[in-house]
This record gives sequence, structure tokens and C-alpha cells, in this order.
Amino acid sequence: MTDQLTAPSAERPGAAAPPSWWRDAVIYQIYPRSFADSDGDGIGDLPGIRGRLPYLRDLGVNAVWLSPFYASPQADAGYDVADYRTVDPMFGTLADARGLIGDAHDLGLRVIVDLVPNHSSDQHEWFRRALAEGPGSPMRARYHFRPGRGAGGELPPNDWPSIFGGPAWTRTTDPDGTPGDWYLHLFAPQQPDFNWDHPAVADEFRTILRFWLDLGVDGFRIDVAHGLVKAQGLPDLGATTEWHLLDVGVSPCFDRDGVHDIYRSWRRILDEYPGERIAVAEAWAPTLDRVANYVRPDELHQAFNFSYLGTAWEVAAQRRVIDESLEAMRRVGAPATWTLSNHDVVRHTTRLLQADEGDVAGRKPAEVDPVAGLRRARAATLLLLALPGSAYLYQGEELGLPEVVDLPPEVRQDPAFHRATGQDGYRDGCRVPIPWSGEQAPYGFGPAGGPSWLPQPESWARLSVAAQQGDPASTLELYRAALALRRADAALGAADNLRWCEAPEGLLVFERGSALRCTVNMTDRPIRIPRPGEALLTSGPVGLSEAEVEIPADTTVWWSV
Ligand code: GLC
Repeated sequence: MTDQLTAPSAERPGAAAPPSWWRDAVIYQIYPRSFADSDGDGIGDLPGIRGRLPYLRDLGVNAVWLSPFYASPQADAGYDVADYRTVDPMFGTLADARGLIGDAHDLGLRVIVDLVPNHSSDQHEWFRRALAEGPGSPMRARYHFRPGRGAGGELPPNDWPSIFGGPAWTRTTDPDGTPGDWYLHLFAPQQPDFNWDHPAVADEFRTILRFWLDLGVDGFRIDVAHGLVKAQGLPDLGATTEWHLLDVGVSPCFDRDGVHDIYRSWRRILDEYPGERIAVAEAWAPTLDRVANYVRPDELHQAFNFSYLGTAWEVAAQRRVIDESLEAMRRVGAPATWTLSNHDVVRHTTRLLQADEGDVAGRKPAEVDPVAGLRRARAATLLLLALPGSAYLYQGEELGLPEVVDLPPEVRQDPAFHRATGQDGYRDGCRVPIPWSGEQAPYGFGPAGGPSWLPQPESWARLSVAAQQGDPASTLELYRAALALRRADAALGAADNLRWCEAPEGLLVFERGSALRCTVNMTDRPIRIPRPGEALLTSGPVGLSEAEVEIPADTTVWWSV
């Protein structure tokens, strides 16, 4: 069974299997609650995803990464896991997960699932027992329980803030009703941090990895991969500034060297399985060299490139981050990865036009001119898909969906929004359900007339899959065309063969392989250059003559040269 599930049909014996499929893979992130709702409860689910897999095959991606669908009270949209081996009934059953993996493989798509090892839900059996059994319970040693400071223990054990606002500690009540110890949660209070110094925690996660590998998954996305190990003694941070989602540097709780032993042990497990099972780290580290540590040859396979995601739309800055990314990954033999959007950041259709586009982490997004935003996003995507390595796309970006900036507070579910009294935690705006078809909400996301867990804007009727399909000017067809060209040209993927070319100011120009040149106008005015060759694909209309081309503002062109 394992063999059948792990070898996508295009690569079954008989067809020559390309080595290291992941080195140039385009991986599409599915946020299950917002992708497709099969049962009309307003929340997407696994059968909904299963029904839409042919769409993803036709889009031309190589793999999907699914955000968590495990049993969870949903305090942080599933990143609070109560049982790592079951599917939440809201999303379906384990049989649905098995069926989804099988269907995906039959369509030639790999499946990566999210693993959340930094913390569990407060409804996880271990944590419930830790609370119920009181101080001294062996279960408490699997988390970080500490007495408080101050005469009556009324102050948190140290000064660490939660990423979601407020202190990273919550005080417990002892079984006899008196105030007790505190426990650590770098995120919401419903997400207690595991103590990774405890052998039972490490054992448990090795078993969880095997459980999903046996079920046939092709890999894992490791949530908060930089957070598992804390400094001995949990020393004060001494910082007075507020933390925001994951944008912290070296600290007593992030990017500690000890995390790498964990990933070495996981790599040994992944390597036991056939078919190149992989892991990708969500590791926020202060430098690209620190990020590269996670993808040394005996550790994980890929790490998200948040430096790239946070870089301004400007030639010098882009060139620098691309060079630094390629160089850092080359040193450890890992492919670079590129991504512009995910479920935690402002959608790039909106973000790249914001004055502070480097500020990606859940702060309040501003409304931008939708036409200009989409033009720049399309140009950015064609640039991204021309870079060497692996690309991560986030559901809905292929439709050019903008960030929804005007969700009313009462529908918002990001826990940070509520903890920070509305000052932060704007991640719901990129999580609004996908419009598939029709003139009215929920636009085919679920059954007609049904709800969707977040309201979709009226303007999304014209952004639906059905509205864009077959329209060569649509963003959906642009993505399809780019992915088809990428698949057809091996030089566009893995090979680390980017060459910068001389170019007038404001134009980013590089070549890949022997025949592809990418020109990106990053200014707000047209730039005229000698025509480099035959235009293969453009992110917007360009003015072509025999000898020259005028590339409009915020436009990318792929040329065959
Ligand atoms: C990761 C997830 C984010 C979640 C956090 C806590 O950053 O991407 O959505 O809130 O971890 O699990």
C-alpha cells in the first residue's frame, strides 16, 4: 500500500522517476477551512479538497501542503492540536485523509501535511491530565510549568511576551481551587508549549511522523520549527518592545542550536521511507545563514524564505535577497525556496503596494488600488516562478485575490486580534474562502445559499475560478501558462544557474539556462529596451516592435533568447 500511495502515477515504475522531486517543486498551500466546503457547514473540509484536486492538477502544481486538519478546538484555526492522529470531524475522517492522499497521488500530486510540534492544544490529553493531576504530576514535566514570581506567585515566571499579545504565561488553578503554577505558551493560552527536553515528547513526535508517513504523506511542513528548544532556566528576555508574529531574532526561545538535533533524528526517519519524503521548516531566524542551518544535508529539506517574502519591490533589494538566498542555500546544498503569500501574511496583491511592505506579519493591512495591486502581484509572481529552486503558492493567489481589509471585528477569528484588543492579528483577511463560481456568495465554496465562516466580498464574483477560466488575460490563466512553461523547461527549476544581465535603472534582468531571460520593470514608468527575443509570457500587455519593447510599469516578461 505504501508504495502505491507514495509514487504519484506519473512516476510509477516504467516512467523514469526524476531525482529529488522537491528541489524544483511548486507547492500549493491549501488552507482547509477556506478551500472548499462539501457539507455546507460554512467551513471547508477534506472531501471538498478531494473534489477540487483535478483543478490543482490542471493548474500545474507538483504538490499540496495542507494546513492542520487534526482534532482541535480551533483556538488558532487548527494550529492548536488536541490529537495528532485524528481528523477533526469538522474536516472529515481519517478515511477522507487516506482517500485524499490516494486521489492526489493518482493525479500526480504529492501531499505535505502540517506538523505542530512546538505546542499542543490545551485540550490535548497530556495537558488536561497535567492540569487535573496538579503540581507534581509527571504530565506537567512534558510542558513548562513554573511557580510565579512575587510574594504570592502572582507574577509570571519570566518576562516573555506571547507572540499573540500579553504575557506568554497563564496561571493555573489547583484542583483544590487555589491559584497555582503558571504554564508557558508562546502563542495563545490555549497553545501550551511542549518541553522538548522531556524524552516522552521527542518519542511521541517520532511516532506521529511515522503514523502519517505510513498513511502515505510525502512530507511535513514544520510549524514554528525555530521554537522547540528553550534556553535552560527560561531566562528573562530583558526586552521592552512588543513582539509580533514570529519576527523576532535570537532569543531564549527561538532558533536555539538544540533544535537541530531534533531535525537530524527526524531526517533519519524520513529517509527510512521510499519516495523521498521531505520536511520544510517554518523557521524564522535572524539571517539567511541561520535559516540554512535547518537544511543542512542531514536535517530538513527546505525552509521558507521569509527574507524574500519581506523584501521591498525594488531592484537593488530584490537582487540582494535573491543572491543572498542562493548563496546561503548553496553552502548547504539545499534548494532555495520562494514565496510571496501564506495564511499568516497580507496577500501580496495588497502587500506589495503598501508603503511598509516589509512589514508582513499580521499588522493592519491598508486598502490599495486593486488594479495597481494586481498588476504588481502578477509581475512579482512571474519573477518568483523564474527563480531557481522551489516555489510555494498560497490558495487564491492564482485568482489574484486581494487581502480583505474590512472584515468587521465580530467575524474575525484570529486569536491575536482579540488578545491585542484589535491592534494586531489581521490574519483573517488572507483566509477568506475561495470563490469558485456563481454570482453570489459563497461562490461555489459550499452549497448555494450556505454560509462561509468568513464573509466574501461582493467583488469576488468576477474573481472566481469559473469567471477566469479560459480568459487569457486572467490571473488564473497566467499562472497556468507560467507553470506549464516551467514544467516544460528543466532549466527553470532546480539548477542554480541564474545570471544577472546589464539593465537600465529600475529593470531587473536575469537569464536562466541557455534560453530564458526574465525582465522585470519595478518602476512606475514604462522602460524601453532593445527587444531581447521572443516574448514567451508577460504579466501584462507590452508594446512590441521588431526591434524594441516598451515594458510598462510593474510588468514582467519571460523571453526566449
Ligand atoms: C505558525 C502558523 C500560524 C500559527 C502559529 C502558531 O506561525 O503558521 O498560523 O498561528 O504558527 O502555531
